[in-house]
Formats: sequence, C-alpha cells, structure tokens
Amino acid sequence: MNYHVLTLFPEMIEQGLNTSILGKALDRDLISLEAVNIRDYTTNKHMKVDDYPYGGGAGMVMQAQPIYDAYKAVEKKIGYSPRVIYLTPQGKVFNQQMAKDFAREKDLVFLCGHYEGVDERVLEEIVTDEVSIGDYVLTGGELPAMVMIDAISRMVPAVLNNEESAEFDSFHDNLLEYPQYSRPETWNGKQVPPVLLSGHHANVEKWRREQSLIRTAIRRPDLLEKADLTAKEKVFVEKILANREGL
Ligand code: ADE
Repeated sequence: MNYHVLTLFPEMIEQGLNTSILGKALDRDLISLEAVNIRDYTTNKHMKVDDYPYGGGAGMVMQAQPIYDAYKAVEKKIGYSPRVIYLTPQGKVFNQQMAKDFAREKDLVFLCGHYEGVDERVLEEIVTDEVSIGDYVLTGGELPAMVMIDAISRMVPAVLNNEESAEFDSFHDNLLEYPQYSRPETWNGKQVPPVLLSGHHANVEKWRREQSLIRTAIRRPDLLEKADLTAKEKVFVEKILANREGL
C-alpha cells in the first residue's frame, strides 16, 4: 500500500505516522508514505496557493492549479489514475468496512483541504471519494487523513503481527469487544471475573461472547442490525434491550 498525501503541512503527516505499528510497517516496506507539498507545485511567483472566494465571503480558497499539478505528478509517477480521497465533513462517514475496501488498493491519494475550502473545479476533476471522519469540523484534512491511514493500514496484510488481532477487534462481526483484564488478580479492591481464571476455554469464550452482546446492546444498539447472531443470541439481546427500556 502506497499513500500519497497532498498537503500544505507535509511535516505533520510525516511526524504523525512514523511511530508505533505504522512506523514498523513503514520500516518493513509493508506500506509507504509520501507527503507531497502542494506549495511546491504552485506557479505563482509569490508561492501563493490560495485566493479570495468569488462572490465574496470570509476566508480564503485553495486554488485549483497547485493541487491539480501535485496530483498529476503522483499520477505520472505511479503510471495510472488512483483513487483520490478528499477529506471533508460533507463526505461519506468513514467506517471499518470502508477501511477494508480502501486497504485493497495499491495506491491511495489523500487531498487535505484548508482555509474555507478548495476550488470545486479541481475536486470535480480528480476526486473519486469524499470522506468525513465524523460530524464535527476540524481545521484541516491532515488529521482525518492520518486517522484513515491508520485504520486502513491495520487492514493491510502483515501490518499487525498477530493476524487474528485485526479480526477479533471491536467491530469484527459488528459487535463491540469484550472487556480485557491483566495482572494482578485484585487491583484497587476489584477482582478479575472468576471465569477468566478458571482455565475453562469454552466457558471463557461463552462469557466473552455474552459480554460483547451486552456491550453492543447497551452502547451501540444500532450495530446489532448488521451483526450475525444465532437465534438464541437474538433472544438474549432482546432481553437486554427490554430490561434497558424498563429502566
Ligand atoms: N475536514 C474538516 N473536518 C473534517 C472531518 N470531520 N472529516 C474529514 N475532513 C474534515
């Protein structure tokens, strides 16, 4: 997976993604990251990349030319037209399924906007996907691009050392993850649930599945529609939901 991030703040992208699991994935060449400075492509003699909006209004608009030329340089380098993701609160809200789908691409281009927006004409020309990371407004597209790159990278084969860990995380099967405990057995007067100390594997699995169902029913009932539940589990979940409504 090769990421190409078109941005006015390349150092933010480079520094933000160079640690921990992604840092290792970069070292191991499982992913690559190129932060393309849009300003390097401006033809303006003062190196300007923005201008006033036609029709008036507050703020500045990022101009089409430097963005288009930065994109074209990436396209030329890789030899084909890749998917181009524009980060915007107006886009489709990002989720785990989208992370999985994007992880199958060979290259992904992220366009990070700033100021009051980007000239619509260049968006029409190059963008294939408009994505939001949630219903709130950030100052630029860099953090959303990093959030997406993190979520997509963990879906790229071999990035996570334990292949199962991706599968069994929250949102696998559209259920939330069960609670986890580690040593000591008692901390701050609180005991680890005894079943986890029993060594009885089947009982542990049963308990964990129940905890996932309870958590999802209480915290994110909207996810249950998409979850793959047995008939018994459906009855179990209905009971939790009914009890909850009775409170
Ligand atoms: N740019 C500003 N806010 C954003 C958001 N919530 N998602 C994606 N891009 C953004």
